[in-house]
Amino acid sequence: MIQQTTLQRSTILGVGSHVPANVVTNHDLSRIMDTSDEWIVQRTGIRQRYWVDPGTSTSDLALEASRRALSAAGIQAQELDCIILATLSPDHEFPGTGCFLQAKLGVPGIPALDIRQQCTGFVYGMSIADQFIRTGMYRKVLVVGAEVHSKGLDRTTRGRDVSVLFGDGAGAVVMGRAEPGEESLFCSSHLHADGNYARELWIESPGMAAHGDCHPTPEQTARGAHYPAMNGKAVFMHASKRMPEAVMEALQANGKTVADVDLFVFHQANLRINEMVAKQLGIPEEKVFNTIDRFANTTAATLPIGLDEAIRAGKLKKGMLVACAAFGSGFTWGSALFRW
Ligand code: COA
Repeated sequence: MIQQTTLQRSTILGVGSHVPANVVTNHDLSRIMDTSDEWIVQRTGIRQRYWVDPGTSTSDLALEASRRALSAAGIQAQELDCIILATLSPDHEFPGTGCFLQAKLGVPGIPALDIRQQCTGFVYGMSIADQFIRTGMYRKVLVVGAEVHSKGLDRTTRGRDVSVLFGDGAGAVVMGRAEPGEESLFCSSHLHADGNYARELWIESPGMAAHGDCHPTPEQTARGAHYPAMNGKAVFMHASKRMPEAVMEALQANGKTVADVDLFVFHQANLRINEMVAKQLGIPEEKVFNTIDRFANTTAATLPIGLDEAIRAGKLKKGMLVACAAFGSGFTWGSALFRW
C-alpha cells in the first residue's frame, strides 16, 4: 500500500519501442493501389512503414515495447503500480487492451487504464501518469502507445488518402517519482480537445450511434464507413495551428523560450505539418527530431518511438530540455515539457 503524500514530482525513468519486422515501402503500396512513391514522399515525407503479420495484435507490440522500457528503467514489471495504454486499434472492442497487456506482463491486480485520444493519446497518458505520481497515489506507472493500423485500413485505391499515412508500432515509457534534487523532471503537460471536429477524422461504424444496430449497415459497408475517413485539409490546417499553440503554452507555463529547448519531438502525421510548426516557432531544423520517413504515422505510439529513436541516434542526451506536441482525431491536441 502506497502512502498518500503531497506533490511529488515525476520523471521518465526509461523508454522503449518496438515495430514489427515487415517493412512496407511506398513502392509496395503502389502495387496494391493507385499511388506512387513520388506522391507520398512529396505530400507527406513518408518512405516506408511497418505492418504486422496476421497473428500479431496491438498488445503483442505493446508487450515488447514495455519490456524494453522496463529494462531501460532498470525495473521489473512487478514494481509497476499502474498501466496506462493509449490505442485506437484495440485487440478487441472490450475489455481494454491494457488488460491484455497487464496479463502478458504477468502483473495481475494493478490497474490497467485504456485511453482513446488517438494521435494525442501518449501526451494524455503521460499527463495522467504525472498526476498519479504528483499526488502520491502511485510511484511507477507504465505508459504505452501501441497501434496495429494495417489490419483496419482500406488498402485499395478508395482508401489511399488515409492508408498510405499509417504504420504499426509501439512505444512505452516508465514514469516514476523524481528523487529530490534530481535534474531529470517532467515539467508539465497541456491537454485540449474540440469535439466539433470529431467527424473530420474518424471511423463512423461500428458503434452505438445513429441507427438500431452497432454493426455497419449494408449501405455503410458498401461505402467503406468501417474504415478511417479523414478531411485531410482540415486536419492539416488545424494541426499546423494547434501544435505551435500547445508548445508555446508549455513554454510559457515554465518560463522558458523556444531557444531554451534542446529537442522538439512532435507527432508524425505529415513532415510538412512539422516543417510549418518549426517555421512558425523559429525552431532550427537540427532541433526537430522526425521519424515519419521510416515509421509513417503510428498514432499513439509515435512520440515514444520518437524518443527512443532520438536516444539511439544520439540526439537525446541526459539533461536536455525536451518539448513534445501532438495533434489528432477528436480533434485532440496537447504538449509536454520535460528535462530528460
Ligand atoms: N496517392 C495518389 N493520389 C492520392 C493519394 C495517394 N495516396 N491520396 C489522395 N490522392 C489524390 C486525391 O484523390 C486527390 O485527387 P484529385 O485532385 O484528382 O481529386 C489528390 O490526390 C489530392 O491531392 P492534394 O490536394 O495535393 O492533397 P493534399 O495536399 O490535401 O494532401 C494529405 C493530402 C492527406 C497528404 C494531406 O491533406 C495531409 O497530410 N493531411 C493531414 C493528414 C493527417 O495528418 N492525418 C492524420 C492526423 S493525426
